[in-house]
Amino acid sequence: MAITSNLDETTITDAVLSSISDTASLRTRQISSALIRHLHAFIREVEPTEREWASGIDFLTRTGHMSNEARQEFILLSDTLGVSMLVDAINHRLPSNATATTVFGPFYVPPPAFADGDDIGAGLDSLPLYISGFVRSTDGSPLCNAIVDIWHCDADGFYDLQKLESQPGLSGRGRFHTQADGSFRLWTVRPCAYPIPTDGPVGEMLVAQGRSPYRPEHVHFLVEASGHKRLVTHLFASGDDVLKSDVVFGVKDSLIRHFEHHQDGVAPDGRTMSGTWFTLRGDFTLALSE
Ligand code: BEZ
Ligand code: FE
Repeated sequence: MAITSNLDETTITDAVLSSISDTASLRTRQISSALIRHLHAFIREVEPTEREWASGIDFLTRTGHMSNEARQEFILLSDTLGVSMLVDAINHRLPSNATATTVFGPFYVPPPAFADGDDIGAGLDSLPLYISGFVRSTDGSPLCNAIVDIWHCDADGFYDLQKLESQPGLSGRGRFHTQADGSFRLWTVRPCAYPIPTDGPVGEMLVAQGRSPYRPEHVHFLVEASGHKRLVTHLFASGDDVLKSDVVFGVKDSLIRHFEHHQDGVAPDGRTMSGTWFTLRGDFTLALSE
């Protein structure tokens, strides 16, 4: 039986580790043991005052209270501490020719379906953006009927989910399916760099750490095809200063694209354009599933 009394700072860690030795699941035991060892090591290193420890517990409590279906403050905490990108890296050790993954973020919901070439930017006030590309396998074959989900913020830096009270309904997101040659195309509008929500404990943490809350301009993609690993990624706009200081550490050079500027003229789908508009080429290569 594990000893649970007369413990001091030199013996308490082993006592707690002994208390979990009957954990039936090996994986649960491994996770519990690592949590106890690292948490105790953290306390030994930091030597918090009781006031500091209470304030840490209060921070986590408020993070939980702030979380609900529409707002996940714990995901933001994981993102801003680089943990989401670390979990992503460990779980996506992909072949070098596969498109790189990046952070999922808290603003995904299964989007409404659109037909090839449709516009998901209706009602959003920003410059037109035509996105097109191909979905392929790492073996080079085109992936027909792959799902391409796209979502992005508006020109004020807000996702539709953040504005549901003032502006009901989804916008700036859609589901497309690739054609026989693996291609897809759509219209939307240009998003912008934006701050992650800062009105909760994570915002307080960023202020205390002297960090900017900004993410660089990007469009999110989730691409799925049978027999292949699901790809969650973004395409980032080149030339954005924030690329060097993404608050969630999600930028990879291989995901930076030039959003090509156009003035008037005719779009790739034959639409006559007036004023400024942009094109973005987004090709994705999916790794085979094991
Ligand atoms: C996003 O890109 O939507 C996002 C990612 C992580 C935290 C907040 C937002
Ligand atoms: Fe985003």
